[in-house]
Amino acid sequence: SADSGTGPAVVLVGPMGVGKSTVGELLADQLGTGFRDTDADIVAAEGREISDIFIQDGEEHFRDLERAAVRAALTEHRGVLALGGGAVLDDSTRELLGGHPVVFLSMDVEEAVKRTGLNVARPLLAVNPRRQWRELMDARRPLYAEVARAVVTTDGRDPEDVARAVLDAL
Ligand code: S3P
Repeated sequence: SADSGTGPAVVLVGPMGVGKSTVGELLADQLGTGFRDTDADIVAAEGREISDIFIQDGEEHFRDLERAAVRAALTEHRGVLALGGGAVLDDSTRELLGGHPVVFLSMDVEEAVKRTGLNVARPLLAVNPRRQWRELMDARRPLYAEVARAVVTTDGRDPEDVARAVLDAL
């Protein structure tokens, strides 16, 4: 890639369940670098699960924690970085991503329903998953596209294939 020298080698964005962690770990192996995930950073720093942060303190507080985690990871990490699916909702977080090699892993709504089902550990999908997925994708697709240098479609593809496409895209 033609990056300026600092920051992660790849930043993966996209909806929950699209495979950011699986593909990110594969990519990190292939590139011989580390994998970092802002969700895991937040859980480690807070000592509680993300679902508990949402329930106890609300989404707005979570987005504040997430913005700080993204800023730190972009500064400190040189490998593959995955962001939480909603990180792009925050204007300041989107601005932080400017100039970084961001790849949007996309999937269609049916693929999303198939992959995540009724996973209650994902607080935004507790009720009517298909309708919520449609609304979530409609709201976020433009935001992912805004920050991304490339889009890789994951529908019906295995993680190895997606990882290859990410490398080709950069
Ligand atoms: C969220 C996605 C999750 C996590 C939180 C909120 C979202 O991350 O950050 O539950 O708003 O889409 P993953 O995309 O890693 O599941």
